[in-house]
Amino acid sequence: MRRPLAILILALAVCAAPVLLAAAEESCVTCHRGLTPGQVQDWESSRHAKMGISCSVCHGDAHSSSDDANLASLPDEQVCAACHEEQFGQFTAGKHNFGWTTLNALPVTHLEPDVLIEGGRGCGGCHNMGIKTAEQKADQLAKGYHYQTNSCDECHTRHAFSKKEALNPHACQQCHMGFDHPQWEMWTSSKHGARWYAKQAGDLPETAAAPTCQHCHMSGGDHEVRTAWGFLGVRLPMPEDEQWTADRATILKALGVLHPETGEATDLVGVIQAVDMARLTEEAWQTERDKMLKTCSECHAPSYAREQLEAGDAILKDADRLMAEAIEIVGDLYKDGIITQHDGYPYAYPNFLFFNQTGGNDMDDLSYIEQVLLEMYLKHRMRTFQAHFHTSPDYAYWYGWAQMTKDLGEVQELARTMRATHTAAD
Ligand code: HEC
Ligand code: HEC
Ligand code: HEC
Ligand code: HEC
Ligand code: HEC
Ligand code: HEC
Ligand code: HEC
Ligand code: HEC
Repeated sequence: MRRPLAILILALAVCAAPVLLAAAEESCVTCHRGLTPGQVQDWESSRHAKMGISCSVCHGDAHSSSDDANLASLPDEQVCAACHEEQFGQFTAGKHNFGWTTLNALPVTHLEPDVLIEGGRGCGGCHNMGIKTAEQKADQLAKGYHYQTNSCDECHTRHAFSKKEALNPHACQQCHMGFDHPQWEMWTSSKHGARWYAKQAGDLPETAAAPTCQHCHMSGGDHEVRTAWGFLGVRLPMPEDEQWTADRATILKALGVLHPETGEATDLVGVIQAVDMARLTEEAWQTERDKMLKTCSECHAPSYAREQLEAGDAILKDADRLMAEAIEIVGDLYKDGIITQHDGYPYAYPNFLFFNQTGGNDMDDLSYIEQVLLEMYLKHRMRTFQAHFHTSPDYAYWYGWAQMTKDLGEVQELARTMRATHTAAD
């Protein structure tokens, strides 16, 4: 009910703009031109300014002087939705809508300093993606954080709100880079990226084929982003290959999704389902794969494209073998009492969801072997398969697979030393 009403009010506001809004608009713009000139310039360059969508359409007109700035409302995604229902609807159905919720679903988030989460300098700077529930907003306000109420300005930044800016791959860079998801580094150094840069420099014609992040992931302007394997690189149903099934089960145990002893699903499965963290049916996975194949096939032979994507699936299988071997070594240390269950951990078993804080709630009890294990999963396994999909040979081998083998060696060596010194101490 709320949205149609909002549309009506906004539509009226826009239609009546020349007369009714002129005064309010003037005062906002005049005062803010002196106060925040960069903001006003940005707005003036926007389609919004040209269409008469002034400051007060998004911020209301309750605040009108220097002493009542607290009365200005900060527009959430619903405000944009009143005029951009299509993009809003797609966004809501896609993976970006879960950024804030997945962040808060992890135990480690609640062990980190608040300014890294709510302050938006760390995790929260990237995971602000996603519409916050009324509860989540109230929680933020109670903690004293009142910005970051809108995800739409993550790609078309305020107050230019430009489509062209959002189509530039740099719009994705801030978040899709670095430690555990270096898609930016992989794409820029791939032939796809090299062509895009050559085009920008005028060395290839405007018509040259050079796929960007948006071309492959927001085809046709669709805001519903999602991939087949997702971030975690796991899916259901289990594969036909027995070894791969066993290896994936081991990884799911370290993710806390399967019970380490019984192998049964834990409560976390509900969370994974709620935030769409992995494709849980063959059909859901295939839908995404088919969409991607169609995109590749705009420029490559379909059989060529299929082969490339299947190479990505195949490396995931081999990477999972190494990964499971390492997890089992650390799991055995728990079993033999050489590592004891950390405070806050659900089981006596390694748990990736605590990230580098491998001591659970206890910073004096960090476990180094588990930090090596975490990097193997989060940094190096990610690179190994993500690089295959983003056609980056260097990331696939040297920053990915080669580092996984090094990690496995380190885990083996550390376990040997731990066992030796443990017995000696007894
Ligand atoms: C007489 C000057 C003046 C006028 C007129 C004015 N503002 Fe402001 N505005 C301010 C000042 C001062 C601040 C506070 C800046 C700060 O916090 O550093 C502010 C802050 C804001 C904020 C930020 C609020 C927050 O929570 O941080 C918004 C949004 C805003 N104004 C929008 C508007 C809109 C929309 C109008 C017109 C309806 C308007 N302003 C009219 C001076 C003005
Ligand atoms: C199309 C909607 C829209 C219009 C029009 C708009 N804003 Fe905003 N504005 C936003 C959004 C979204 C935010 C970010 C809110 C948040 O972070 O919670 C914002 C934030 C702000 C802030 C606080 C954050 C900061 O960066 O300082 C100020 C001040 C502000 N706007 C002023 C203005 C002024 C002045 C105008 C008119 C010249 C204007 N806005 C027009 C959507 C709009
Ligand atoms: C009152 C209606 C209204 C509201 C509210 C509104 N917009 Fe718009 N927006 C428009 C109109 C009208 C256009 C111009 C459409 C066109 O060019 O055909 C536009 C254009 C855009 C564009 C495309 C700009 C370009 O470069 O072509 C983006 C992106 C956009 N809006 C984002 C937003 C976001 C994000 C919000 C919320 C913070 C928002 N809008 C709120 C009406 C609105
Ligand atoms: C402000 C940070 C931010 C920006 C900017 C951003 N993303 Fe994301 N993206 C995220 C986060 C966070 C997730 C994971 C959401 C979650 O937790 O469920 C994500 C997820 C995705 C996924 C889904 C992966 C999967 O699990 O299947 C794709 C695809 C994606 N982003 C593409 C893009 C593209 C393309 C752009 C640029 C047009 C972009 N993103 C810009 C933060 C961002
Ligand atoms: C530089 C930006 C950035 C920072 C900082 C960041 N993340 Fe992320 N995170 C992302 C992006 C982008 C994705 C999606 C990557 C992909 O699909 O390859 C993601 C994915 C995730 C996912 C998986 C979501 C899913 O459904 O697949 C979780 C959980 C997560 N991050 C938690 C965290 C936590 C907890 C922190 C802080 C301790 C954090 N992130 C810090 C950008 C960031
Ligand atoms: C040529 C097409 C193409 C381009 C360009 C591209 N991607 Fe991807 N991307 C893929 C494919 C294929 C996958 C794997 C899909 C699957 O799971 O089957 C993928 C997966 C992803 C994922 C999920 C995790 C992963 O890496 O496997 C994210 C997030 C992502 N891409 C973001 C980006 C960003 C950001 C850019 C630009 C810097 C980008 N992609 C450029 C094709 C592309
Ligand atoms: C992950 C980055 C990203 C986020 C987040 C995002 N957009 Fe966009 N948006 C884009 C891209 C890329 C385009 C250009 C698509 C195209 O034309 O191929 C676009 C285009 C648009 C357009 C112009 C459509 C047209 O063709 O004229 C509007 C309006 C818009 N977005 C609104 C929104 C709204 C509302 C939100 C929040 C619910 C939002 N966007 C969030 C990347 C994003
Ligand atoms: C918009 C067109 C376009 C799309 C879409 C596209 N590519 Fe490409 N791709 C190219 C071009 C052009 C090259 C450079 C060919 C060369 O090196 O001569 C290239 C190169 C490659 C290469 C490196 C080949 C080599 O010889 O070094 C691979 C692998 C590849 N693409 C796979 C894919 C996959 C997989 C997809 C879909 C996920 C995809 N491409 C989507 C245009 C595209």
